[in-house]
Amino acid sequence: MKTQLRLGVIGVGAVVREIYQHLYFRSHYSDLLEICAVADPNEEYRNWFSDLAGLPANRRFASYQEMFAQVELDAVQVNTPDHLHCGPTVDALNAGLDVIVPKPTAATVKDAHAMIQAAKQSGRFLGIDFHKREDPRIKEAEARFQNGRYGTLQVAVLYMLDKLFVANPNHTPRFFASPDFAEKNTPVSFLTVHMADALMKIVNLVPVQVRATGYSQKLPSLKPIAVNGYDLVDTEIRFSTGATAHILTGWALPDTAWSTTVQSSRLICSDGMIDLGLDTPGLREIHREGIFEVNPLFRNFEQDHTVTGYGISSPGRLYQQALALRNGKLSAADHDAAFSPMALGFHTTLVLEAAEKSLAEGKRLASGATLGTVVDLPQLVAAQLGPEAVREYGLG
Ligand SMILES: NC(=O)c1ccc[n+]([C@@H]2O[C@H](COP(=O)([O-])OP(=O)(O)OC[C@H]3O[C@@H](n4cnc5c(N)ncnc54)[C@H](O)[C@@H]3O)[C@@H](O)[C@H]2O)c1
Repeated sequence: MKTQLRLGVIGVGAVVREIYQHLYFRSHYSDLLEICAVADPNEEYRNWFSDLAGLPANRRFASYQEMFAQVELDAVQVNTPDHLHCGPTVDALNAGLDVIVPKPTAATVKDAHAMIQAAKQSGRFLGIDFHKREDPRIKEAEARFQNGRYGTLQVAVLYMLDKLFVANPNHTPRFFASPDFAEKNTPVSFLTVHMADALMKIVNLVPVQVRATGYSQKLPSLKPIAVNGYDLVDTEIRFSTGATAHILTGWALPDTAWSTTVQSSRLICSDGMIDLGLDTPGLREIHREGIFEVNPLFRNFEQDHTVTGYGISSPGRLYQQALALRNGKLSAADHDAAFSPMALGFHTTLVLEAAEKSLAEGKRLASGATLGTVVDLPQLVAAQLGPEAVREYGLG
């Protein structure tokens, strides 16, 4: 029986710096992983990570294809930008490797579908790291909601607002490396997907319609580098039951906010309500630099130098499942759950693609607001993937 996965890491940018380096080297899951090689065309990032992992020169690659050809691996983690998840994932699955991907599965349903198909055909593991699924508050809400305690979901409002410095290329030091970060990424791709996925996990409903409204008023005014992107987006999701969610996400909150991400949610149901006070994770500090909410539930730097929290246990559990599958120890129920469209993030990618389409086809007002069009999700899937996929993904 295997006790370790030989891992190749594809892409070692910001998400590896902020989250996954702790998983790989200082977590309760580190023993499961033998970091064997890295592939990233960015030489500076590649060398930073390789030095950290103690990888010799012949384990450092600019291309993942070369890494596949030269190093024997069991699994890869694909940390490339969203629109580049599909190629390495499909190639790795076809090469017999298990694959872990940070959220979202992909930027389009076409890519997500190709990845899911490749996983099913290869029999290998595909896991998407939506870390909110492991947040104990979300898990408790899910268990209580699924027990019928609150009745039927009617309307939900969720918000996730970053401080401006996350999107502001004029801030020193830069939070994200590239000056066009908030043009290449949108609040929808970066933030809405977290909340949409968490909500769908709690209420287990299938989305059928999306309409987005975007506000671009602060980012274009930044100096000297202006950003042509959205400050805030309201993504309205209609579910098959008629329930509605508004997911408000953005990154233009003043830097004086009490945490990097100010977030919360309220779910109003026929027989009750859930308030998820995600803003108040339990540790508030008053410090000479300001008043801050600290979230040790997400990432907890322990005194023994290990890092715990759901930011780490979420991908860690995916690796445990990949190893169990490899050892023939993943139960049929766990396998079915891991391969469901919801678990594989198909519906979340659908919401993402639809919200971006809604804005792209919307009407831009002189005020800087964009009134998005209504996007029908079964129609979008039928147009992209054909009528069979509409049924396969529970959309009709
Ligand atoms: N879990 C989270 O909360 C979270 C947070 C941030 C980012 N993410 C996700 O992580 C992914 C990466 O985001 P990031 O912020 O680290 O981006 P990034 O731009 O900082 O890093 C991406 C890295 O991928 C590399 N890359 C590009 N093409 C490649 C290829 N063909 N082969 C190998 N490497 C390649 C780039 O050189 C870069 O180093 C995205 O999908 C993003 O949405 C998740």
